[in-house]
Amino acid sequence: MSATQPQERNQIQFGVFFQGVNFSTIWTEPESGSQIDFESFRRVAQTAERGLFAAFFLGEGLRLREHLGKLHDLDVAGRPDAQTQLAALAAVTSKIGLVATQNATYNDPFDLAHRLQSLDLLSGGRAAWNVVTTDNAWTGANFRRGGYLDHADRYTHAEQVVETVRAIWDSWDDADGSARLVARDFGAFDVRGVGRLPRSPQEHPVLFQAGDSDEGRDFAARSAEVIFSAHGQFEAASAFAADIRRRTALAGRPADDLKIFPGQQFVLADTEAEAHEKALWVREKQITPATALAFLENIWGTSLADYDPDGPLPDIDPVVEVTGETRGAGFRAKKSKETADAWREQAAAENLSIREFVFKVGGRLEGGIIGSYQQVADLLARYADEHIVDGFNISPFLIPSGLDDIVDRLVPELQERGVYPTEYRGDTLREHLGLRPPLTRRGEPGDAARQTPSFDLV
Ligand SMILES: Cc1cc2nc3c(=O)[nH]c(=O)nc-3n(C[C@H](O)[C@H](O)[C@H](O)COP(=O)(O)O)c2cc1C
Repeated sequence: MSATQPQERNQIQFGVFFQGVNFSTIWTEPESGSQIDFESFRRVAQTAERGLFAAFFLGEGLRLREHLGKLHDLDVAGRPDAQTQLAALAAVTSKIGLVATQNATYNDPFDLAHRLQSLDLLSGGRAAWNVVTTDNAWTGANFRRGGYLDHADRYTHAEQVVETVRAIWDSWDDADGSARLVARDFGAFDVRGVGRLPRSPQEHPVLFQAGDSDEGRDFAARSAEVIFSAHGQFEAASAFAADIRRRTALAGRPADDLKIFPGQQFVLADTEAEAHEKALWVREKQITPATALAFLENIWGTSLADYDPDGPLPDIDPVVEVTGETRGAGFRAKKSKETADAWREQAAAENLSIREFVFKVGGRLEGGIIGSYQQVADLLARYADEHIVDGFNISPFLIPSGLDDIVDRLVPELQERGVYPTEYRGDTLREHLGLRPPLTRRGEPGDAARQTPSFDLV
């Protein structure tokens, strides 16, 4: 299909989320690479580009996870700076977007604006900034401002940072090559300066957002161009899309202005039965006996080394009131005794061992999509037809080979169904994603593009 032929079906796109922490990536197989080896990044990025993926995506963790007072080394620990990695990848790719997660709580806007714009220029207009606020104070202890912002204040601050970064990007005057002064008063610190770089072929980096609270969603609806969510299953994704489009329209934008990309894992094989067999293997590898115990130790707050991972959940009560924040496996501060009681009850009712229980509640594949290539392609076509998502940010469970079957087997099935691109739409990330011009470059609030929802709100 050429770019000028009418599209009969709505399409979805893919990004790849290269996970640097947690147990969703299996790093213990002989074929596994290393999370700090450039070869791993290169292979994944180039495979994704071969599969016409819109974006290569990196998270950010500004402090290593800890567990019972030690580095949590059951998960892979340590990852290079995202912008440095992406700059290196810009040199070995030519189309794929390069998304750096950078938090707005600890980074200064002037520095951030310049680094992101540099990546955007060096990559020919392929950069994006995934704005996060980071949900824990312990990360802040690494910085001179030591966790100084409450949850709600982080979004107020993030919005000011984003607005300032955009003003810096926009401060370059195309007409005469001069730059306008950007002056902002933040209270905590002020900004007085001029942008130091011209615009890139996509004007400026695309803005992603990841954060799921009401404040986070509203912030995305006002300021972002893509939202990265954790709601990948059909029903949840559907409800999320309706909510985000409502918020986006309320913010005075076309309802489809904010593209929705949930994270997702796929386990695929020739037949459904084989895919489920493979999924069992993946879960076994993701949740080892030691990982299962560590998962419960987050709640119990003490070593459970004497418990059998294949036996029942611990009969002792947690020694802490709430789970620690420097956790090894994705918890918010939960009430420990309440959680332990609920988990014991569920495990007893379903006759689950520790490991089986952790498979159930902690397994990354609970939200994953498992099936034959054809089945999954049919399901994804439904997501496209019903406009549930604009794409998926895929986490491969194996690095560096985990995208191979998605690109070689799933992508052609989707293309055959007309629900996946057959070529890149252009050279920039903004073009790949079919985004409108940046929010600050669209004219005045009366501009039709700011006001008219382009399809019915669900
Ligand atoms: C899908 C998703 C991915 C995220 N990735 C990161 C990340 O890589 N680094 C980070 O510091 N925070 C990340 N966050 C957390 C956000 O920074 C945010 O601080 C957190 O979710 C709290 O905001 P909320 O209450 O609005 O969800 C992510 C959040 C979501 C939903």
